[in-house]
Amino acid sequence: MKIAVFASGNGSNFEAIANQIRAENNEAELVLLFCDRKQAFVIERSRQLGIPSYSFSPADFTSKTEYEEAILALLQENQIELIVLAGYMRLIGTTLLMAYQQKILNIHPALLPDFPGLHGIRDAFEAQVSQTGVTIHLVDDGVDTGPIIAQEAVSLEVGETLESLERKIHQVEHRLYPIVIQQFIEELEMSKN
Ligand code: GRF
Repeated sequence: MKIAVFASGNGSNFEAIANQIRAENNEAELVLLFCDRKQAFVIERSRQLGIPSYSFSPADFTSKTEYEEAILALLQENQIELIVLAGYMRLIGTTLLMAYQQKILNIHPALLPDFPGLHGIRDAFEAQVSQTGVTIHLVDDGVDTGPIIAQEAVSLEVGETLESLERKIHQVEHRLYPIVIQQFIEELEMSKN
């Protein structure tokens, strides 16, 4: 099954997914990266991994619909069946939601429904919770609200700093996301038969 990753920034999850898919030689095929910021480091990572990247921003278009129609054309040309968001810092609009119903995954660095939004790690840290974690969910039209597929908790230790918590969260993300993507693809393949 052909998948596309959408990212906007650093791309450590993109790299973890790409490496895992290669190592496992499984049913998933990471065909392309879509990035909405031409300067993002994730584009450099895709170059090093030899995965084609495509980049355009909503500013290149007159509306969000036109922007997403351009993305949709790219996905359809490449026969993409599953979209994986990995640090894509925009809300998915109606055009893509309708075309990929129940087929857009997202990762969020907190235990949803707690701490949605842009700063999940920092917000949990500042709230002094004893545990936070990582959530993988299907995307709907809300902010981090779609049905939850997987979660893993991360405990805050005595002396935990924001930086150490960020490291722990990212380690869990890099391990968990590729596994969940693979399981999700297997279920999709089975539901086709
Ligand atoms: C991750 O923490 C992810 O949960 C959030 O954005 C971050 C992206 O990090 N949605 P990276 O670009 O994959 O390094």
